[in-house]
Amino acid sequence: MNTLINNISQLVAVPPGPVSGRAFSSPPVVQDAAVVLEDDRIAWFGPAEETPGGAYDATVDADGGTVVPGLVDCHTHVVFAGSRENEFVQRIGGATYLEIMQAGGGIRNSMRALRRAGIDELVGEASPRLRRMLASGTTTVEAKTGYGLTPDDEFKTLLAIKRLDSESPIDIVATFLGAHTTPPEYDGRSDEYIAAITDELLLSRIHEDGLAEFADVFCERGAFNVEQARHYLAKCQRHGLKPKIHSEQITNSGGTRLAIEMGAVSADHLECIDDDTIAALAGSKTIPVLLPGCSFFLGSAPAPARKLITAGLPVALATDCNPGSCMIESLPLIMSIAASLLKMTPMESLVACTANAAAAIDRADSLGAIARGYLADLLILDVPNVNRWAYQVGVNAVRTVIKRGRVVLENWSILRY
Ligand code: NIG
Ligand code: FE
Repeated sequence: MNTLINNISQLVAVPPGPVSGRAFSSPPVVQDAAVVLEDDRIAWFGPAEETPGGAYDATVDADGGTVVPGLVDCHTHVVFAGSRENEFVQRIGGATYLEIMQAGGGIRNSMRALRRAGIDELVGEASPRLRRMLASGTTTVEAKTGYGLTPDDEFKTLLAIKRLDSESPIDIVATFLGAHTTPPEYDGRSDEYIAAITDELLLSRIHEDGLAEFADVFCERGAFNVEQARHYLAKCQRHGLKPKIHSEQITNSGGTRLAIEMGAVSADHLECIDDDTIAALAGSKTIPVLLPGCSFFLGSAPAPARKLITAGLPVALATDCNPGSCMIESLPLIMSIAASLLKMTPMESLVACTANAAAAIDRADSLGAIARGYLADLLILDVPNVNRWAYQVGVNAVRTVIKRGRVVLENWSILRY
């Protein structure tokens, strides 16, 4: 099936990731453009007057809108039970994220709620979030476990993620975050917890059933140290799970160095990264994933994005959507926050949320770019350019979402009136 998308005022032809340097700040833009899709792939794109002739099975009129690749949210904890607005209010009163966590709240609060929930409830709570993510332009999302913290509850979360993936137009990529924090029953025995959560039976079932592609660990004071993180990731790696690390979020704990050492796909957060580690990262293949929504939500210092960009790194952005440190579902909102907190231009943020985010989930060869043969995940925006999109903070400019070549969502309410 051939589909023509015409009447595009501006097509941002984001190249395949990882993208750094000049192309990161100024990806190619085609004015008055058209795109041709063949089934679920991009077959051609370019100036409208050069559109290949012939018959098309369907035509989508972009009506003067901007077209960009579908957004890739490469770091989320979107599958959880309950909510933690009480902690949100406690922080307004002066408590810190770490204090709440050390007092037995934080991740452990979500753990208690998730252990009580069945798969149906988890799916029921996450689906509206995923629908809203799709409506704001996210076409692929990474989802972590990490609130179960027993082999059974982690497995249950992975089954919920699998069902959500099959039931929603959004593609979901699963990450096993068994090492999110030590659960109360292992207090003071975190090494034993790591041994329990990397149980051979659990890891081989995850691998054999294709339930996760990545393993992640929270390397932080009060969570897991570098030694424990190395041990956990190495065991997961032996079962085919590719490493990712939550590193340098609250303190400079050395997680990013470990990510480089282990050839991790990504090192995420980096609020407290130092200059030497930035230089080391620049010589590696690990993608830095920044989560400025967390800094905004917690009122804490943001990551040094400009230093990372100047060092030539292909920076990616994600929501980190989770009930504790960042209850944000919208990547366009993250692009607006990145403008104010990270001093990233909207064009840089777009590349960071598409090509580089695809690289952060090891899908740079098929996703996140406007390129021949790439998945036809595209957004038609109700704005004349990308700057306007991020500038209109909190306004959803996504008019049409095309997922794998099919129009899956039209935000009718924002059509011209
Ligand atoms: O990425 N830092 C660890 N994990 C999440 C927060 C999880 C939570 O508080 O529920 C994060 O910020
Ligand atoms: Fe996270």
